[in-house]
Amino acid sequence: MTEELAVNGGPKTRDTSVKPWPTIANASGRDFGEQEMELLREVMESGSLGYMYGSMVKQFEAEFAARHGAKHACAVSSGTAALHTAMGALQLEVGDEVITSPVTDMGSVIAIVQCNCVPVFADVEPETMLLDAQSVRERITDRTRALMIVHLLGQPCNMDEIMAVIEEHGLYLIEDCAQSHDAKWDGKDVGTFGHFGCFSLQQSKQITTGDGGIVITDDDGLADEAYRFHDKYYDRSGQNRPPERIGMNYRMSELVGAVALAQTRKLDRINTRRRETAEALMAGIAAIPGINPATVHPKATHGWWRMALSIDEEELGADAPTFSQAISAEGLPFGRGAARGEPICMLPAFQDYAAYGTGDFPWERPYGRRVEYRLEDYPGTNWAMANVWTASWNEGYTLDDVDDILRGLRKVSEWYTARG
Ligand SMILES: Cc1ncc(COP(=O)(O)O)c(C=O)c1O
Repeated sequence: MTEELAVNGGPKTRDTSVKPWPTIANASGRDFGEQEMELLREVMESGSLGYMYGSMVKQFEAEFAARHGAKHACAVSSGTAALHTAMGALQLEVGDEVITSPVTDMGSVIAIVQCNCVPVFADVEPETMLLDAQSVRERITDRTRALMIVHLLGQPCNMDEIMAVIEEHGLYLIEDCAQSHDAKWDGKDVGTFGHFGCFSLQQSKQITTGDGGIVITDDDGLADEAYRFHDKYYDRSGQNRPPERIGMNYRMSELVGAVALAQTRKLDRINTRRRETAEALMAGIAAIPGINPATVHPKATHGWWRMALSIDEEELGADAPTFSQAISAEGLPFGRGAARGEPICMLPAFQDYAAYGTGDFPWERPYGRRVEYRLEDYPGTNWAMANVWTASWNEGYTLDDVDDILRGLRKVSEWYTARG
C-alpha cells in the first residue's frame, strides 16, 4: 500500500515551514565568510573604491582570466552588461542579425537589441533546452553576423556542433555563460570557445556579488574595445586616446571586486559540493519509474546551476499538470518550466517590437528585418516548457536534502504507477 499523496490530503514528504530548503536568497545556500570580509576590509582601509585607483578588480580580472586560461578579462556591473560589452566591442551595423536561444534571460536579448541588432531565435533540443545547431543553420541569412549561445542551467552547448556552424559561416561567437560557471565541454571551459565568454555574478549564480559580471577573450583587439566600451570609451591603458565612440559605464567597484575575488577563489569548492549532491540526485531519479533525470551529454561537465527532470507520462500514469501539482504538494523544490513558460520571443517586448519610442527600430526597414516570432517555429522549446521541471540548486543542499527529494519523487511515482 503506497502512502497517500499530500495532494490528496496525505502527509507532506517535507514540511518546508519546519525544514525549508537551502536557498540562494540568503546565507543558507550561499558560501560567504571571512575571505570576503577580509578583502572588503582591505578595500575600505585602502580608501580606493574605484577600479582605476585600487587593485581588487584588477586582481579579480587576472585570477578569473587565469583560471579560464584566457588572455583578457574585463569586470563589469552585471551579466547583461557583460553581454552588452561583448556585443558593443564587435561594432556590428544597425539591423545586423544575431542568432540566440529562445530559452534564456532577457539579459542576452537586451545586449543584442541595445546594439541596434535584430535578435533571431533558433530552436533548442527538447531534453536539454540547449541550442540546436541545425536550427541555427536554418535561421542564418545574409544579415547574420553573430551567434550568441546560452550554456543553460549549468550545462554546456554541444560545442563540436556549434563550432562547425561558426566555421562554416564565419560568424562571431559570444558565449552566454551566465548560468554556467565552471562548466566544460570535452574538458575545456565554457567561455573559451568563442570570441567572448560572458559571465554573471548575480545573486543566484554559482559565485556571486549580488550583481556583477565579467567578460573574457583571447583577442587583443576585441579586449581593447571591450575595456573601452565598458568605461565610456575612455582609454585607461595610459595611451590617452580620446573616446572615438559611445560606450557605457559598466565599471565594477572595488567593493564588488573584493567579493568577486573571494568567490572566484572558492569556485572549485562550491561546485564540488553542487556536483556531489546534484549527481546523487540525478542517479537516484534514474532509478524511479516514469521520471527521467536531466539529459547530460557524455562530453559535458555540468555546472549544476539548476536541476532538471522530465517525465514519461505513459510509464508514470500521470500527465504533466497532475505530476506538477503532486510534487509541489509534497513540498519538493521543483517549479514549472525552464524560463518563462514559453519561448522568450513570445514576450510583449518582441511581439510588439518595442525597443525605442513608438516605432519598430531596429526591426523596421531600411535598418533591419521585421522577423516574425511565432510559437509554432519552436517545437523543441514548446516541448521543454511543457515537460521539463527545474529546481534552483545551491551549495547548501546536503545528501540528506537529496534523500528527501528522492523520497518525495518515489512516493509520487509509486502512487501513479500503481494505478496506471
Ligand atoms: C542566461 C542568462 N543570460 C544573461 C543573464 C543576465 O545576467 P544579469 O542578471 O547578471 O544581468 C542571466 C541572469 O540572470 C542569465 O541567466
